[in-house]
Amino acid sequence: MNYNFDEENNRKNTNCEKHDALKKYFGYEDLQALWVADMDFKTPAFINDKIVEAAQNSTYGYSLQSDDLFNSIINWQKNQHNWNVEKDEIYMVNGVVPAYSACIEAFCPDDKDEVIVQTPIYPPLFKCVQSNNRKVVVNELKEENGYYTMDLEDLKSKISKNTKVLALCSPHNPVGRVWNKKELEDLAHICKENNIVIISDEIHSDITFKKFIPLASISKEIADITITLNSAGKTFNIAGLNTSYAISHNPELLETFKIVSQKRQINSINFFGYIATQAAYENGADFVLQLKKYIQNNIELTKNYLKINNLPIEFYEPEATYLIWLCFKNTQLSHKEIKEKLLTESKVALNDGVSFGSNGYSYFRLNTALNKDRLHEALIKLSKAF
Ligand SMILES: Cc1ncc(COP(=O)(O)O)c(C=O)c1O
Repeated sequence: MNYNFDEENNRKNTNCEKHDALKKYFGYEDLQALWVADMDFKTPAFINDKIVEAAQNSTYGYSLQSDDLFNSIINWQKNQHNWNVEKDEIYMVNGVVPAYSACIEAFCPDDKDEVIVQTPIYPPLFKCVQSNNRKVVVNELKEENGYYTMDLEDLKSKISKNTKVLALCSPHNPVGRVWNKKELEDLAHICKENNIVIISDEIHSDITFKKFIPLASISKEIADITITLNSAGKTFNIAGLNTSYAISHNPELLETFKIVSQKRQINSINFFGYIATQAAYENGADFVLQLKKYIQNNIELTKNYLKINNLPIEFYEPEATYLIWLCFKNTQLSHKEIKEKLLTESKVALNDGVSFGSNGYSYFRLNTALNKDRLHEALIKLSKAF
């Protein structure tokens, strides 16, 4: 079966944050939306048909967490990522971010406790720490010619007796890294030695262009200090169905997490979310292959466009995700000037790099998960202003 990622999909006036909240977030209505991390492609029919079928009963009561749902997750992790997971190691929750926030409460019981985040990073990974009244400790990623690595010497220097959690974004949003085995092992080794729990946000793990390794699959020692958070939301464009899951091979960690999740009531899942997640994981392998190919072409298209037109905007090709971390340093313009040009001359809505941490200054994040002709139009608009 061939999936048609070229199909036009007008999401305006569908109560969609990405396309319908431009005025609210950017101050202008007439922008091309290339920000929020969801895709402009339609959710595939093998998911949608199941949702429609379920809706035909016109009954939306509470759902059962069936064995079929758990098996779909188990088989997906095994087949896609060679990771063996058992049913009682999985816990369903209504979002990766709600689960992450619960982890902060669960593993940072004292108000002096600290959480290390590696910026630039998906903003809720530090915002949730602040909203739980815990301290964010920043371990900036190192950047060289657009390629980001972890700064483990800096990490070691930032660890104190109050450090309880390290937030790992794997693959990393926004810089697009797929951490390799050595990077993950070195990081985990430091955390193990210092009794730090790693929360591994692996929501982008399916859209990867090189081998992705789930952190907890590496060894028993690493699995013992890890809680993994994931969902089918990004991969199949069903994030609005609020269905995610946590996995830990360590029963104690999982139990501590479950207690807070139950307290916060984040463990009751949307009726359609169960159906969509199971349908996605049971039938989605071929879709993912084709999706990745389309996204890689879009990334290539962007790279070539910037080069051929000599634009002073650069990026390192992401190893994962449909998100591109554009560097505007060569424009020699101030952050304010770049932002102004994007909004008033190019008329495109990109995520401001500063929101990912102070080292995101001069960067803007571009979402390439859209029809390639629409992406080309966006690049033409971009070139007008730079
Ligand atoms: C790294 C990362 N984690 C989590 C999320 C959101 O997860 P959820 O919608 O399940 O809360 C996103 C969405 O952009 C993300 O990029």
